Amino acid sequence: MTSPISLHDTGELLLPSPLQPFLPDWPGADKLNLFIKRDDLIHPVISGNKWRKLKYTFNALPAGCERIISFGGGFSNHLHACGFLCALSGLPFTAIVRGDYSTNLTPMLEDLYRWQADIHFVNKKTYKLRDDPDWLSSLSQRYPGSVIIPEGGSQHLALKGVAEIIEECDVEFDHVIVPVGSGATLAGLITALKKPQSATGIAVLKGEAYLESLVENLLPPHTAMPAWQIQHQYHCGGYGKAPEELKAFCNDMQRSYNLPVEPVYSGKMFAAVKDMIANGQFSSGSAVLLVHTGGLQGAR
Ligand SMILES: Cc1ncc(COP(=O)(O)O)c(C=O)c1O
Repeated sequence: MTSPISLHDTGELLLPSPLQPFLPDWPGADKLNLFIKRDDLIHPVISGNKWRKLKYTFNALPAGCERIISFGGGFSNHLHACGFLCALSGLPFTAIVRGDYSTNLTPMLEDLYRWQADIHFVNKKTYKLRDDPDWLSSLSQRYPGSVIIPEGGSQHLALKGVAEIIEECDVEFDHVIVPVGSGATLAGLITALKKPQSATGIAVLKGEAYLESLVENLLPPHTAMPAWQIQHQYHCGGYGKAPEELKAFCNDMQRSYNLPVEPVYSGKMFAAVKDMIANGQFSSGSAVLLVHTGGLQGAR
């Protein structure tokens, strides 16, 4: 691919994404200034952190790139975004999917087929090889001229796009909160903060220490970063686990605040924030920025 791709070509890009004050009727929330960065509204197909994470990757593809290959689950927002961007730019796309959904396609996979993606369903054992250099090199040999994007689009180029979330904000804030899956979104936000601002990630899967190491590995080495942490008590049992209470919370966010959230990422983050506020984890008068990273396609 030679020319840079732009979602502007689809005529539907909303950037900067809206920044909204959020005034929930939650215990303790009246003592804080809460804002939501509505990245879920960036684009009707690629919402949330997906365009942020993939923008520079797609625009820095080598001239001879003939195919994109990437990885994800059957509902993956990342594969969905890659499939759409490849269709937009006329690039073949190979999606390596964890699990066999061939007789039970999800709406995400139906979209990928509609966008002419080549989909390979693999078992968990094979999927675990997704970062294995030998396996990746065999994939590259099988698909000459391909560019392999890691799961979740988590690579250094993603951080630059994510940092733009902060650069767009024209309000002062003390803390930023975001859900964490593969760590690149949190890492990108951290790079854009100015001390004493701090970042908190809400783990959406069981990954204590592991998630921290993913973020550390993406951050620039030997550089003092603003304070950051990951909260691990809000994953509700693991990735994709959505107990009834969480589903009810998501419905309530829509009903009470007209805010669409889903249980895998944004729902867990907002539920965590409600709990953290109730527990007095933010000092009175602080301004807290909540990044709505989208992902609503996964809840279809
Ligand atoms: C909607 C949504 N929010 C948040 C995240 C977490 O982002 P990251 O994987 O960069 O930690 C993801 C996964 O990429 C996602 O799809």
